[in-house]
Amino acid sequence: MMKIRDVSKHFTVKKGSSLSRTRQIVRAVQNVTLDWDLGDFVAIVGESGCGKSTLGRMLAGITPPTSGTITLDGEILGGARGGAQRKAFARMAQLIPQDPYAALNPVRRIKDLFYDPLSYHKMVPRGQIQERVEELLTMVGLNPANVMNKYPNQLSGGQRQRVVVARALTVDPKFLIADESVSMVDVSLRIGIMDNMKAISRQRQLGLMFITHDFRVARYIAQGGRIAVMYLGQIIEQGPTEEVLKQPMHPYTQALISAVPILEGREQRVSEVLPKSYELTGVVPHEGCPFEPRCPLATDICVKQAPELEADPVIAEHLVACHFSTPREMVRDLRVTSA
Ligand SMILES: Nc1ncnc2c1ncn2[C@@H]1O[C@H](COP(=O)(O)OP(=O)(O)OP(=O)(O)O)[C@@H](O)[C@H]1O
Ligand SMILES: [Mg+2]
Repeated sequence: MMKIRDVSKHFTVKKGSSLSRTRQIVRAVQNVTLDWDLGDFVAIVGESGCGKSTLGRMLAGITPPTSGTITLDGEILGGARGGAQRKAFARMAQLIPQDPYAALNPVRRIKDLFYDPLSYHKMVPRGQIQERVEELLTMVGLNPANVMNKYPNQLSGGQRQRVVVARALTVDPKFLIADESVSMVDVSLRIGIMDNMKAISRQRQLGLMFITHDFRVARYIAQGGRIAVMYLGQIIEQGPTEEVLKQPMHPYTQALISAVPILEGREQRVSEVLPKSYELTGVVPHEGCPFEPRCPLATDICVKQAPELEADPVIAEHLVACHFSTPREMVRDLRVTSA
């Protein structure tokens, strides 16, 4: 079980010229609390810049949190001492990074990309590395003979994405964090890749977290699981996937779902659905609700007081952070194929 408690990540960014330099605090992730267990499918949804990748990197132990704790089976992530323990920890949660191009060393053949993690973590005896690479590539639906000896740029986008998934599996992780894993892949290939990731996660009882800006992808991956919606670093709504999509309670979730196209080719931007356009710079406007500047329901209290993430009186697992949350029945075609 992974327990994420009040986790925040702040970056200090320098602004201006060398004469008048100011510092700005970017709250990339703010007070995120979440439980994530083996076999759990969670989708993290939000616009560009809301902190999804930063959260993913913290859960994979790549970036340390500014505050808060992440524990894996009771042990604090990043707090582990000693080489062996740290190594074991690093294996537990694997991140499938956002950009498959950047993730694969361009001057190494596919089979060689697996060599380092397999030998560093002593996953199999040396003589069996080749066999294991073939097994991993087969697992993600690739023909080993066809890709093993190629370089990353000789593969298609879909194949490259599958290689990145296979590589994350080399160290036998318990938790898999997929960051926008199908957004760079052609729409026609998305379902195949998502089905493969779901099947692997089910077979191995992995916790799967899928980061996406697309509600259709979130729905497909997290059927029967959970969705958490992020805004400016915070989770503003969270609950069983079907509940959140059918009756979203936060005005932001409602706006995001409204932005999903009704008909092919008629995709609206979130900024068109919401009354005011806005760029997510990571800078929170005030101590109140982060969504207040764009919110159609906002009043004075939203500036003064940040709403807590609280349970819905009817469905206890459905949490929302809004002073004026009201469930709204949404009718949208959220099938991936309708994209
Ligand atoms: N190393 C860093 N230094 C400074 N600011 C950062 C750093 N990494 C991220 N940020 C800022 O933190 C915020 C969240 O970034 P993050 O990459 O987590 O967003 P995201 O939700 O993954 O966006 P996208 O959907 O575009 O991938 C942004 O405002 C970003 O500019
Ligand atoms: Mg990202």
